[in-house]
Amino acid sequence: MSSIKVIGGGRLKGETKIQGSKNAALPIIAATVLNKGITILRNCPRILDVFHMIDVLKELGCIASWESNTLIVDTTDITSTKVSEGSVQKMRSSILFLGALLGRNHEVSIAYPGGCLIGKRPIDYHLDSIKSMNVSQEFLGDDKDIIHCYTDKIMGTDIFLKFPSVGATQNVILTAVLAEGVTRIFNAAREPEVLELCNFLVSAGARICGKGTAFIEVEGVGRLHDVDYTLSADRIVAGTYMAAIAAAGGEVLLLDTPTGQLDSVIRVLDRIGCSIRINDEYMRISCKRRPLPYDILKTQPYPGFPTDMQSQLMTVLCLADGKSTIVEEIFESRFQNVSELKKMGAMISESDNKAVISGVMHLEGAQVMAHDLRAGAALVIAGVAAQGETIVRGATSIERGYEDICRDLNSLGANVRYCSDNIL
Ligand code: UD1
Repeated sequence: MSSIKVIGGGRLKGETKIQGSKNAALPIIAATVLNKGITILRNCPRILDVFHMIDVLKELGCIASWESNTLIVDTTDITSTKVSEGSVQKMRSSILFLGALLGRNHEVSIAYPGGCLIGKRPIDYHLDSIKSMNVSQEFLGDDKDIIHCYTDKIMGTDIFLKFPSVGATQNVILTAVLAEGVTRIFNAAREPEVLELCNFLVSAGARICGKGTAFIEVEGVGRLHDVDYTLSADRIVAGTYMAAIAAAGGEVLLLDTPTGQLDSVIRVLDRIGCSIRINDEYMRISCKRRPLPYDILKTQPYPGFPTDMQSQLMTVLCLADGKSTIVEEIFESRFQNVSELKKMGAMISESDNKAVISGVMHLEGAQVMAHDLRAGAALVIAGVAAQGETIVRGATSIERGYEDICRDLNSLGANVRYCSDNIL
């Protein structure tokens, strides 16, 4: 296991370019199997989650290769419709192959993904919706944890999601693209990554209306065609670096930032005292004073404040001049950082899905553990803002979503490096 060592305390100054979007790349990689041919995906981040999705493609008999940040996928031949238990355990997003393989081959076997550190994460909305599209489901294996779905014809239908689940919306769209008739999704997720999946599919020949809204209509087509597509930049990576400036202070330029997708984050950072200016080429963010507290910050589905930015804002509010409250509305247990930040001198009390944070003047460097991807990134920025040396263990979690968080933060003037646990 690797760690990240941070020497903190200085203000930030510099510029960095924001990598391609992880959460847009993952469903689109699953979607490539809907076309019998070649997909070129540009600006694709070289991160562990993307590598896992490519491993699944290879398990299915597809070919994938890289040229710099361009991923080339050849899905002409699919030799298997089974996604192994190991793949699903490594990464929950492999569940998106459920809809994609059904669309392509009318059959799929995939292991049931368990809960994870941030919550139970059931897939009942995925399964119920797909079942209503004339798809049979059975649960196989000793523990009945292999989902086998099959059909002779996927039929479009009306689907009402109880909650605007990102993954369920994407899985239904993937199932519907090559279905017979029209599928209408009510209460669809409006996250930019759902819109981006739709944009990709439309450029490959799919017929989709209502992209980016809570009502999406997919009219099935006979086939898709080859496509060359460029992914947008990652809004959560951009938000993470904005939070780093808010916590440590300074002034930086973020290039290729997807500003249109960051309204809720910009609003919060603006209210706690950061100054943010945007033009066509970059975002300039400058934070000259200690952050102001934020009364009640609630995570919500898009366009609300993203749960994937909650940990990073918790780091910032630990340093605010007063008391803030964070309410986590999306996942049941996404406060793993409370105990880690306390090791650094933070004052936080937590009950159920609410954390009350009394800001302190300084955080102190400490040895902490990255329990998940965003929590880990939030600890690195806590280290950047803290006085002294911080070691963030479990850095592999961070590599799931950040191409090179050390490279990027060092371009912004921080002192951060990967190191093996053995030499600590
Ligand atoms: C996606 C994102 C993740 C982000 C999350 C919420 C990817 C790869 N991941 O995850 O980074 O944090 O959206 O914005 O894009 N739920 C059910 N039943 C279901 C499906 C979901 O109860 O069938 C619940 C979940 O447990 C959770 C909530 O709905 O409490 C939201 O989950 P969902 O929007 O589906 O998140 P993911 O697609 O897993």
